[in-house]
Amino acid sequence: MILQLLSLSLILYVSPFFLTQSLSATLSLGSTLLASNTNQAWTSPNSTFSLSFVSVGASSYAAAITNSGGAAVIWTAGGDNGTVDSGGSLQLLSSGLRLTNGSGATVWESSTANRGVSSASLTDSGELLLSNASATVWSSFDHPTNAIVPSQNFTSGMVLRSGLYSFFLLSSGNLTLRWNNSIVYWNQGLNSSIINANLSSPSLGLQSTGILSIFDSNLIGGTIIAYSSDYAEGSNILRFLKLDSDGNLRIYSSDGGSNTKTERWAAVTDQCEVFGFCGNMGICSYNDTNPICGCPSQNFEPVDVNDRRQGCKRKMKIEDCPGSATTLELPHTKFLTYQPELSSETFFVGISACRLNCLVSSSCVASTSLSDGTGLCYLKTPDFVSGYESPALPSTSYVKVCGPVSPNPPPSWETAKKSWRLQAWIIVVAIVATLFVLIALEGSLWWWCCRNSPKFGALSAQYALLEYASGAPVQFSYKELQRSTKGFREKLGAGGFGAVYKGVLANRTAVAVKQLEGIEQGEKQFRMEVATISSTHHLNLVRLIGFCSEGRHRLLVYEFMKNGSLDNFLFATDEHSGKMLNWETRFNVALGTARGITYLHEECRDCIVHCDIKPENILLDENYNAKVSDFGLAKLINPKDHRHRTLTSVRGTRGYLAPEWLANLPITSKSDVYSYGMVLLEIVSGRRNFEVSAETNRKKFSVWAYEEFEKGNMEGILDGRLGDQDVDMEQVLRAIQVSFWCIQEQPSQRPMMGKVLQMLEGITDVERPPAPKAVTEGSLSGTSINMSSNISALSTFAASAPAPSSSSSLQTPGVSSIVSGRNTEKASSSLLESETK
Ligand SMILES: *[C@@H]1O[C@H](CO)[C@@H](O)[C@H](O)[C@H]1NC(C)=O
Ligand SMILES: *[C@@H]1O[C@H](CO)[C@@H](O)[C@H](O)[C@H]1NC(C)=O
Ligand SMILES: *[C@@H]1O[C@H](CO)[C@@H](O)[C@H](O)[C@H]1NC(C)=O
Ligand SMILES: *[C@@H]1O[C@H](CO)[C@@H](O)[C@H](O)[C@H]1NC(C)=O
Ligand SMILES: *[C@@H]1O[C@H](CO)[C@@H](O)[C@H](O)[C@H]1NC(C)=O
Ligand SMILES: *[C@@H]1O[C@H](CO)[C@@H](O)[C@H](O)[C@H]1NC(C)=O
Ligand SMILES: *[C@@H]1O[C@H](CO)[C@@H](O)[C@H](O)[C@H]1NC(C)=O
Ligand SMILES: *[C@@H]1O[C@H](CO)[C@@H](O)[C@H](O)[C@H]1NC(C)=O
Ligand SMILES: *[C@@H]1O[C@H](CO)[C@@H](O)[C@H](O)[C@H]1NC(C)=O
Ligand SMILES: *[C@@H]1O[C@H](CO)[C@@H](O)[C@H](O)[C@H]1NC(C)=O
Repeated sequence: MILQLLSLSLILYVSPFFLTQSLSATLSLGSTLLASNTNQAWTSPNSTFSLSFVSVGASSYAAAITNSGGAAVIWTAGGDNGTVDSGGSLQLLSSGLRLTNGSGATVWESSTANRGVSSASLTDSGELLLSNASATVWSSFDHPTNAIVPSQNFTSGMVLRSGLYSFFLLSSGNLTLRWNNSIVYWNQGLNSSIINANLSSPSLGLQSTGILSIFDSNLIGGTIIAYSSDYAEGSNILRFLKLDSDGNLRIYSSDGGSNTKTERWAAVTDQCEVFGFCGNMGICSYNDTNPICGCPSQNFEPVDVNDRRQGCKRKMKIEDCPGSATTLELPHTKFLTYQPELSSETFFVGISACRLNCLVSSSCVASTSLSDGTGLCYLKTPDFVSGYESPALPSTSYVKVCGPVSPNPPPSWETAKKSWRLQAWIIVVAIVATLFVLIALEGSLWWWCCRNSPKFGALSAQYALLEYASGAPVQFSYKELQRSTKGFREKLGAGGFGAVYKGVLANRTAVAVKQLEGIEQGEKQFRMEVATISSTHHLNLVRLIGFCSEGRHRLLVYEFMKNGSLDNFLFATDEHSGKMLNWETRFNVALGTARGITYLHEECRDCIVHCDIKPENILLDENYNAKVSDFGLAKLINPKDHRHRTLTSVRGTRGYLAPEWLANLPITSKSDVYSYGMVLLEIVSGRRNFEVSAETNRKKFSVWAYEEFEKGNMEGILDGRLGDQDVDMEQVLRAIQVSFWCIQEQPSQRPMMGKVLQMLEGITDVERPPAPKAVTEGSLSGTSINMSSNISALSTFAASAPAPSSSSSLQTPGVSSIVSGRNTEKASSSLLESETK
């Protein structure tokens, strides 16, 4: 009796246990899981797997099949879209499984209505089955979400998804990983020895030992794709294949009941090669161990600072700076390019053509040039670009940005390396400083005993020259120039393009530092112009020693001319009369100036139209040799920039402008000839050519002078202050005639500069000049000239008129016209057409 009672109670006690067990193996209609209770689960017979709600974020849940440890999530109801709030539930109904959220709305269902579902079960291999009275109507293995487990068949119609990433098995047997259903960033074919196999319906399977292989009725024994690195190890290990949210496909191992998983194989070995891993405009790189996401430069900012994988956005949109976008160079960086983009936007062009083609194409956002010998250029036109930066990458990329480019500071792992470098530097500096002190001691000794020797001055000048004799312009820092000009204290003048200050360089060379204003050009463009100017060497041209380009500061450093500019001598008022030049010097200045301009026009490699010849721009060295300054600067003004269209230099230069400036006609080297003619007349007369006085019958001096010339009154034109000196009147007559030839209204009537020089030198005879017919009389006496029309004339000339060989265009053809956005269509199409393969 007692025994019976005992056994009964035993049964009573035990039976609930048995009941739950049988319930979990086969679930009846009405069974429900609540998101609010994550401990509630439907488990497989051996508890290997269970279906339960798992937390996937702050108060959001998903119904998932996991192994007993919970590390392996092998299926999720509704996939990425199957998240519900804490009021959600999963129900087994006769229509199948239904996932609802707190509001009762259906989030996902198994689409098995009218199939008479009567029960569900979860097997020990992780398969969730819905059955009716006679058959299985639905299986989770047929509807995988982002993972497959051993004994699951993945066939060519199926897909694994995770975010924008998807994984397919093609009917050819190829395995592909795609981004946003389009970009194929991984494509694994079958073993090449069986590549031509005629597959009927391939399927991918992962064996419990860790072999990933493809099966097909036409493939005897299948073909192996991959082995997990712990292949055939252990006995209680669950291996599963999963498409992770970072776009990589991996095999993981999870030990029995443990709650950890270990990566054993990855499809894409280099995570940064996964398209879109760092989001749009994100740049993937590695710190010592992990892939990390950053932005191309400080022109960009992260979309979400807490999730750098969301990519980057421009601080300033390209549309907001039409025409003035520049390119940011990203060395050792590529923008990932895969099928189908690979075929459509791939060209074989050089690195600079690749960059320029992107710059001029409105649809292009970035470009990548491979330097691996293929000469491949990718133009990135889509809205979404994905970058990869690594010191090992043999490629250079350019990305379009608005405004000044501001590169990233070096990554933190670089600065760590810097600390030991700093220590090394300190040691080096200490040694150098010691040496320096010794040399300085010796030098000062030498100075002390030898300074009175006449040799010394010459020596130091020679040293100064030698230091800059290499020809290449020296780059100065702004600080350096600030120091050498004592904070821009001693102003030498305020010509066009900005003020000029006196400075003394560290080696005691005196220099003139010109602080350019209104130069909006990019660093590279500026350097190009500087290179052109500094490569122009002539005895009668002021030499450019160096430059500074720092932030918005643009400065040019010229050799210092002891005697200043010609105007101080020509138009000297009484108190300066001591500085007056005699005729011989004047004539030499005229010749020197003509030689300098001739060189600019006809003899140097990149010919230059000066555009602003006037006595203020003719400097005199200690021996009164003329040196033309400010050449090459007209190019530096950006004609596209409206704010700086008023060329202050020209506005202040009444009288020297050729009539074509006002008439909106093309500006050529003949315009310089006109200006030179006016200067020549002034050298002879010592008076401004536009001066109007009672003495000149209320006419402009240049007009009056021609009338006097007609009358044969050369002495009247000649500077009266030269009257009692020894003056070569034959030279005076030649100079006067040449000047009238130069100021002819018609540019074609004016001689070339070379001819001018020959006439002055007396090598060529000078014919009697016709009347210059100064139609511009009075028109230049206004205070300002509308320069916008002239500048546009200037650029029209550069863009369209085929410049005569002797004259020069103000813009270097090719690069600068492409950069300024002109000839856009032509440039891009011709570049691409000729070089596309
Ligand atoms: C379930 O567990 C029993 C006992 O541990 C074992 O004999 C059986 O093979 C297991 N079944 C599966 C499918 O793992
Ligand atoms: C989630 O829903 C969107 C829109 O309905 C759909 O395009 C996407 O394929 C779904 N994702 C998954 C993993 O089912
Ligand atoms: C429930 O799902 C419906 C439809 O998907 C959605 O409109 C609603 O906002 C969701 N409610 C909650 C509380 O998540
Ligand atoms: C059970 O499902 C099978 C396959 O879908 C179907 O042919 C059969 O009619 C269903 N039986 C009932 C009772 O609905
Ligand atoms: C997977 O496919 C193979 C051969 O195609 C077949 O023998 C096996 O039964 C299938 N397994 C499942 C679980 O469907
Ligand atoms: C994905 O592709 C669709 C259409 O193909 C497009 O509308 C969408 O913008 C793409 N997504 C991203 C993030 O580019
Ligand atoms: C399959 O992959 C190989 C590379 O492994 C590739 O050459 C081939 O074109 C791919 N086939 C298809 C149909 O994508
Ligand atoms: C390709 O398949 C052949 C025959 O199945 C096999 O011998 C060879 O090792 C395989 N090669 C690779 C790289 O898997
Ligand atoms: C591949 O198989 C199909 C039908 O199974 C057949 O029509 C086709 O000719 C085969 N192709 C090759 C190359 O064997
Ligand atoms: C690399 O990045 C990972 C993830 O961002 C971080 O956890 C790790 O500390 C970083 N390692 C180094 C050496 O910076």
